[in-house]
Amino acid sequence: MGEGRNLRYADLFASRTPGPSPAAPVRRQKYDFAVAYPDPGSLPLDELTESLKQALDEEGRDLAVYPHTQGYPPLREYVAQKLEDDRGIQVSPDEIVLGDGSSQPIHMLVEALIDPGDVVLTEHFVYSGTLNILRRFQADVRGVPCDDDGIIPDALESALRQAAAEGRRPKMIYTIPTFQNPMGWTMTLERRAALMEASKRHRVPIMEDDCYVDLRYDGAPVTSIRSLDDACHVMYVGSFSKVIAPGMRLGYLTAPPEVLDRVRALKSGGGVNQFAALAVHRYATTKLRDHIDDINEVQRAKRDAMLAALGESFGSSAAWSRPEGGLYIWLQMPEGADMVSVHEAALAAGVGYHPGPNFAPDGVSGRNYARLCFGYNTPEEIHDGVALLAEVLSKAGALDG
Ligand SMILES: Cc1ncc(COP(=O)(O)O)c(C=O)c1O
Repeated sequence: MGEGRNLRYADLFASRTPGPSPAAPVRRQKYDFAVAYPDPGSLPLDELTESLKQALDEEGRDLAVYPHTQGYPPLREYVAQKLEDDRGIQVSPDEIVLGDGSSQPIHMLVEALIDPGDVVLTEHFVYSGTLNILRRFQADVRGVPCDDDGIIPDALESALRQAAAEGRRPKMIYTIPTFQNPMGWTMTLERRAALMEASKRHRVPIMEDDCYVDLRYDGAPVTSIRSLDDACHVMYVGSFSKVIAPGMRLGYLTAPPEVLDRVRALKSGGGVNQFAALAVHRYATTKLRDHIDDINEVQRAKRDAMLAALGESFGSSAAWSRPEGGLYIWLQMPEGADMVSVHEAALAAGVGYHPGPNFAPDGVSGRNYARLCFGYNTPEEIHDGVALLAEVLSKAGALDG
């Protein structure tokens, strides 16, 4: 940065590059209900180490060559089998692309399909990471109202007709049908079928994000939208983040062949990290099912602790979802309560959460909502943290009584 510097990168940035992202320190609260961390004590570190050791003994020398663009073939075989066994999806390993978590697969599908101004329909409210990717590609993101059964078919039909009336066919419908982030509901089979029908009627593909599906604590599984698809309308993404750890950065997608051709062309940097893929493959093929059962026990207790704590501390002053799985409870405060302005006070008191507008396709609605994640803290901490949150809200005049 000498005196002679006369180069301004600001003049050079590509128009598609998002605005600056300040290097903010990670602020972790004592009661961290903000980010979807899994239970740290349950991470299968010893087993992952053994799996990695075994894989390196067997084929570590292959790390000398670049991995397959779609990712380690045996792990893709595992994913294809898992999708068939658990989600009724029949695809070959060649139709799977591994990515850095499911974020990269989502990014690749958006990059392959979205031009600036393209309409994308999604749930009102929905995962902020995907919203950010869609915004980055300058999509016209429109939220569709939902109830406890998922996207409301009539509301979806109106949104599709509205777009058609504007002469615009949406490029995709993005949905998280199982243990929706942030609202917690699971879309019923009838609604999934209705969504599929609407997709076919209007010739709009669906991106189904199923990353929470394995975290079921009660109730019966509902089949994937992709399994109802007989017309190549559904692109499907999943992840190992929620069942092993986000730090593994491994997820996957499957999509119709012509989309896969484009996705392959978009994959820069070769295939995913082979080191992680080797460990996850050996681990997943031998121990993942048992691990999922174990973490679901732990997380069920945490969900129950949060539901009980909300009942105790919020009573009838608020409403909240009762998810059968996943990691989130969606808290609805009375109209007029403002979870955005209380946010700083809550952080200062040691309670983290995400206010509703973070998940709003319009970026502003939902100020009286908050997403509470129960994955990280212990049941006792959850109890205390929810009580503290109620206290902060009460002091701010946002809680009755
Ligand atoms: C709905 C949903 N999709 C995708 C992701 C991306 O996660 P990852 O890239 O770790 O798979 C998340 C993360 O929280 C999520 O909630």
